[in-house]
Amino acid sequence: RTKVWQLQGTEPAIAEQWIHEAALCLAEGKTVAFPTETVYGLGADATSTEAVESIFMAKGRPSDNPLIVHIAHREQLDDLVQPYNELAQRLMERFWPGPLTLVLPARSGAVSPRVTAGLSTVAVRMPDHEVALRLIAASGKPIAAPSANRSGRPSPTRAEHVVTDLAGRIAGVVDGGSTGVGVESTVVELDGDRIHVLRPGGVTLDMLAELGTPVTVDRAVDPTLVGVEVVLNHIHSGKEIIPTESAVAENETVSSIGFEKEIVNINGADIEQLQLPARQLVVEPTKDSQVTVSAAEAVAPRSPGMKYAHYAPQGTMYLVQGDDDTAVSAYIQADLDDAKQRGEKTGVLTFHEHATRYRADVVVELGSLQQLEQAAQLLYDALRRFDEAGATYIAAETCPAEGIGLAVMNRLVKAAGHRLVRVP
Ligand code: TXA
Ligand code: MG
Repeated sequence: RTKVWQLQGTEPAIAEQWIHEAALCLAEGKTVAFPTETVYGLGADATSTEAVESIFMAKGRPSDNPLIVHIAHREQLDDLVQPYNELAQRLMERFWPGPLTLVLPARSGAVSPRVTAGLSTVAVRMPDHEVALRLIAASGKPIAAPSANRSGRPSPTRAEHVVTDLAGRIAGVVDGGSTGVGVESTVVELDGDRIHVLRPGGVTLDMLAELGTPVTVDRAVDPTLVGVEVVLNHIHSGKEIIPTESAVAENETVSSIGFEKEIVNINGADIEQLQLPARQLVVEPTKDSQVTVSAAEAVAPRSPGMKYAHYAPQGTMYLVQGDDDTAVSAYIQADLDDAKQRGEKTGVLTFHEHATRYRADVVVELGSLQQLEQAAQLLYDALRRFDEAGATYIAAETCPAEGIGLAVMNRLVKAAGHRLVRVP
């Protein structure tokens, strides 16, 4: 049986008692889900291999994917990592507690090798959530915690999501209401004087750039790679692909990393070869907090299949993008009408501004396009709504990959299995 500690509307003294009860479970090596400012995490004692193994078991998660260790105090960090440089310190001062995860050289033996998946580094963060901080502190342990969803499902932003996915598989859930940011933390590693973003999240590139050091984005989130997969998927689905003509020139200053740039360099080229040269975007901060895309480098291909079906709803989802939003909506509606004819249960993921344009079995809004923080907050719940409604065919609009929009698009592209249609 999975216990639910409902903190919402509970007297402070009792809530405190329940947090201690949950913390005791953690100290005893059990798994407990808890809210953070990003998504709910499934926690266990990071120093206990047995405890960490029960996280992987409950989630059905491949064990070669390392976990983030959550701490409540800076003092806990010294046990976990080797002495770190000034940049690491500045990042912690600026963003902790908060949605930034730092990958740092691990102190050997500090956490179970199951946490780091055998790497010499460990990912650490201090969540900006009262309940999480009190729970971690009361447990007296560093807490390993991936998102508290079944592997492949959208991350949980409410305790109900955790219950849906993991009831009966974990010791308990601390219900602290809806999470705030809605998408996971930004994961960075430090390369000397450079901040290298491995996963976009709650802390945006512009926020990182404010520190005045170079920020680079890993090719796993490199929009160019998405463009490549767009082509592959179009070939697969027999739809026409409209490549953008302009590549990003060296040292060109752009206001952000735009999604358009995902489709650079694909004009009529040999599709198979396009898997090889993915560009690495190097983002340099400038005075007015703009960023500069300055380097392109070829890197080895990754297995495309690896990244598919993350966060995915059960139905088939695809993204539709274009410069003209009325054309995008028209495309979506026509395609959904076709799908309906074939007997599909249709869904559309849209923004408030466009919501009245659609006829579908389920229409889910991500808030206003003018406030992408709302999209981040609502995204995972929205994806789960399609499953609840039994949608089998889902079209989704896109948003600019700017600010928090980069994290939203990163998750949307994965949820859609990299299927994207560009409408002229
Ligand atoms: O917001 C969040 O980060 C949430 C909440 C619960 O804190 N947690 C979360 O954990 O998203 P998870 O396990 O779903 O994602 C952890 C990410 C993965 O992309 C993993 O590959 C990366 O962090 N990671 C963990 N340790 C790493 C390491 N040593 N080196 C590189 N990447 C690492
Ligand atoms: Mg996750």
